[in-house]
Amino acid sequence: MADQNIGRVLIVDDDRTIIKVVGISLEKAGFEIESAESGPKALELVRDKKSTPDCVLLDYRMPEMSGIDVLEILKKEYPLIPVIMLTALTDLEIAVETMKAGAFDYVVKPVRKVHLTETVKKALRYRDVLIENDWLANENEEYQKSLEIKVANRTHELIQAYKKLKQTNMETVKLLAETIEAKDPYTRGHCNRVRKLSSKIALNIGISKDKIETLEYGALLHDIGKIGVSELLLNKHERLTETEKRSFQMHTVIGEHILSTVAFFQPCLKIVRNHHEWYDGTGYPDEINGKQIDLSAKIVTIADAFDAMTSTRPYREAMPVETALLEIMKGEGRQFDPSIVNIFIDNELYKTLPPVINTIVK
Ligand SMILES: [Fe+2]
Repeated sequence: MADQNIGRVLIVDDDRTIIKVVGISLEKAGFEIESAESGPKALELVRDKKSTPDCVLLDYRMPEMSGIDVLEILKKEYPLIPVIMLTALTDLEIAVETMKAGAFDYVVKPVRKVHLTETVKKALRYRDVLIENDWLANENEEYQKSLEIKVANRTHELIQAYKKLKQTNMETVKLLAETIEAKDPYTRGHCNRVRKLSSKIALNIGISKDKIETLEYGALLHDIGKIGVSELLLNKHERLTETEKRSFQMHTVIGEHILSTVAFFQPCLKIVRNHHEWYDGTGYPDEINGKQIDLSAKIVTIADAFDAMTSTRPYREAMPVETALLEIMKGEGRQFDPSIVNIFIDNELYKTLPPVINTIVK
């Protein structure tokens, strides 16, 4: 008695006797059998979704279409269906050729029942492995696709979070800068104007976006050290004595010291410490000159000086822009780096500043 159906086998042979003999053997072993007497008929059956076989037994020598031609089409269209070639004992070379063309194995006619059944069972196990591999490959492809989408989504979220964080950082630093200005009402809005002007100069020089961001933080906080300077000194209307001057000049060092404790502000330290250095080396606190001074610090020096001159200070009224520009030009090569002065003047960057509010709020 036959076992339960363990797979569907298509037998393709132009010899009806072979179909019958092979069919009976396989049916007894539990296979469901279908047959075709020519290559075209076999392809028609395979292409019919309702009767797709699990394995094909294919005769090599057939009049209408040779077994190898059918094999090539089957391997191309149905790579997961194993094909076993049926060959004559004298066709062994051909049998090897068909294996090279993709046949799973070959069975020599006259067919031995046991050998035939074992070969078909092996072919079906091989097919199961192929299907599993194919499924895993598809799964993997799907996983890769979903991973790419996940990575893209997460990247977008991170970029948004980073932008938000940067915005919050800038807001916080602005707030910090405003607390300095609260101590010195004459400098209201000064730090933000220095930031904007410094950023414009840097952009015209061609400094990278990342460095401009650092420069903006440094420009906003350049006078943070004034927190450590007496308000009486900051708001004094008379000229400062030498001792008071030295005390005021300490705001650069105090500022650097305050910010040095926060890793985020490390790139801004040179701006804070050196924004009062002069190009000719007669500034403070380090009396360094020219190339020794950090480029960002030199940019802030010009922006700071220009905005200070065009704002009212305790000891003088605000200068007209034209007078301030003449002062900047006079300081070229002495206080200011000539190349930065040129960029500042030639590009009329002073016109890009928001208006200075010279009303003093006490
Ligand atoms: Fe300063």
